[in-house]
Amino acid sequence: MRVPILGTAAGIERYLLELGTITEFPDRAGVTRRLYTEAWQKAQIMIYELMCAAGLEAWMDEVGNVHGRLQGSSDQTILTGSHFDTVVDGGAYDGAYGIIAGIVALSELKARQVPLHRSLEVVAFSEEEGSRFPLTCWGSRALVGKIDTEAMLLCDSQGISLNDAMRSVGLNPSRAHPRRSYDYQGFVELHVEQGSQLEERRKPIGIVGTIFGQERWIVRVRGESAHAGTTRMARRHDALVAASEMVMAVYRLSQNNEAHAIATVGLLQVHHGTANCVPGHVTFTVDLRSAHDEIRRNLALQLRQDFKESGIRHGVEVVAEKHTDTAAVSMSSHLQHLTRDVAENLELDTLFLDSRAGHDAQILGREMPAGMIFVPSHQGISHHAREFTSARDLANGERVLRNVLERAANNRYSEDGGG
Ligand code: GLV
Ligand code: MN
Ligand code: MN
Repeated sequence: MRVPILGTAAGIERYLLELGTITEFPDRAGVTRRLYTEAWQKAQIMIYELMCAAGLEAWMDEVGNVHGRLQGSSDQTILTGSHFDTVVDGGAYDGAYGIIAGIVALSELKARQVPLHRSLEVVAFSEEEGSRFPLTCWGSRALVGKIDTEAMLLCDSQGISLNDAMRSVGLNPSRAHPRRSYDYQGFVELHVEQGSQLEERRKPIGIVGTIFGQERWIVRVRGESAHAGTTRMARRHDALVAASEMVMAVYRLSQNNEAHAIATVGLLQVHHGTANCVPGHVTFTVDLRSAHDEIRRNLALQLRQDFKESGIRHGVEVVAEKHTDTAAVSMSSHLQHLTRDVAENLELDTLFLDSRAGHDAQILGREMPAGMIFVPSHQGISHHAREFTSARDLANGERVLRNVLERAANNRYSEDGGG
């Protein structure tokens, strides 16, 4: 592994695209790296080697997060980083960018022998997306000691438990509560926007105000499987027809509330479905988000009522189980202002915006001041093979991150001032 071409746009892009070749399905477009798979482990090792090659003190923790540290004169530490898992057939930039740019930023500060009071640490989080197990932000939750041992029993779609998946990559599930090794005082996450606001307004840098809260459900609809030719309409308990009404209820709720909330059904399965049977068992997911937790709670109640009514209409049983609930979080106003100052000094225009995507900063932001810096996503495309950010935008983000980290490491640092 060669050391990155520090500070150059091509260097960040090259390492990002190289990481993007590590995928569960090399014959498909896009990147798939679900937690604790072989591809995930290969990526973990590549990141570790890159951190070592960049001259950082590197280690892997108990849940597979990879840390790269640049020691300052104090153990007080400012964190940066993002996640290296992906959705199925996702893009090469989501998560990976914050890790690669974080490594480049720290190695650049090291190469220039910039004096640091606080230490800096880049963390590659093991999981954020929830693409394998019904959980999200596993890596960042573990870092701050916010994971639940019951999670070990959760299973993926193949029936493999989190416990067994951890063992398969050499981790010991009974040690899945990483100690906080240092005094973590703040977190700055650099990420692609995943929307189109920056590109449309021609702003190279976004500064996040609030990250939307989100919840995810698994909904099980049980009707009665029956013969497709002989079962009269009045006698059917069609789980798929009922579920389709519920999908439309989610869609309408989203349409009617788009200014402040959004909801999606991303996965629907007809169990043992065959062409000549009335479907008896369907499961589907709901992802519901809002910047206001109160609004989200009310919309969730409304959806549950809609689901209940569909269930009654079609004579099917509906069980909606919420497995994730992450509150909306405001980013530190100090870090927002610091980022704007830094960007202005670099003559980069900024836009303040909210994030409708979930991020590790949402978890860490409840434990310490957190900030998020966005760079443009071409046409706002994300969670897709065509996700793209230009090398120039990637490099701009790294410069802003590097300067924010340097100032956060050296300045008086608190929620209400400094900087
Ligand atoms: C992750 O990308 C999410 O927004 O759910
Ligand atoms: Mn994502
Ligand atoms: Mn992400």
